[in-house]
Amino acid sequence: MTAGSLTVIGLGPGDAAQITPEATAAIAAATDFYGYAPYLDRLSLRPDQRTHASDNREEIDRSRAALEAAAGGAQVAVVSGGDPGVFAMAAAVCEAIEAGPESWRRIDVRTVPGITAMLAVAARVGAPLGHDFCAISLSDNLKPWETVARRLKAAADAGFVIALYNPISRARPWQLGKAFEMLREVLPGDTPVVFGRAAFRPDERIGVTALAAADPAGADMATCIIVGSSETRIVERPDRAPLVYSPRRAMGGRR
Ligand SMILES: C[S@@+](CC[C@H](N)C(=O)[O-])C[C@H]1O[C@@H](n2cnc3c(N)ncnc32)[C@H](O)[C@@H]1O
Repeated sequence: MTAGSLTVIGLGPGDAAQITPEATAAIAAATDFYGYAPYLDRLSLRPDQRTHASDNREEIDRSRAALEAAAGGAQVAVVSGGDPGVFAMAAAVCEAIEAGPESWRRIDVRTVPGITAMLAVAARVGAPLGHDFCAISLSDNLKPWETVARRLKAAADAGFVIALYNPISRARPWQLGKAFEMLREVLPGDTPVVFGRAAFRPDERIGVTALAAADPAGADMATCIIVGSSETRIVERPDRAPLVYSPRRAMGGRR
């Protein structure tokens, strides 16, 4: 039996031009693909390559199924949108290996990075991540809301630009409004906020507003929000969208 392998592949934000050559080569080398159906749908596969779709809340079951297939000799690919190490499948695969049978630790496991959402959204408006930043998932499915709240406040207090992933969903309707409320207690009302929806996809929508006016209704599950620091700036331009950037030199304090 040939030795199996498992590659966790990042497909980037959605534009085929942003799939890396390394990811393209890893896709060509795999026989069995595991992932959330919309990500599998992005692939143009050969007839000999098989897909195994699952729901987006079944990451651990999906990881186990993929590891079993790899242990059985298949060349397995687990696909993620953006980067697989950012709020995505690479951690789920590691978790499954840690909790699984000893034999899974011998599988050749590799991660192929992709362009994560905050980088895609940042690129659309200028350079809001030009100085220190952090990423926080607003989902309280896998951590208590108190932890999210504490991290948000600490990050804003410390002067980080904050990229918010998983900002809102039908099951989590109030968290984003609460997050804006908390951030307004720490940051000036004119702090730039970028709403980046479906960046680099045909249904992309990018908006820039001030924290005081930031409305949770402007976001959905496909949105990554970048909340500036007190030093992030907006440069207005005639007949062009404004540039949003965080200067490379930070003065360190609040305005
Ligand atoms: C489960 S996380 C997965 C993140 C993904 N691994 C990445 O690196 O971008 C899903 C969240 O990523 C963000 N996201 C993913 N693709 C996006 C895109 N093209 N534009 C804006 N946000 C996106 C949204 O915040 C969404 O709720």
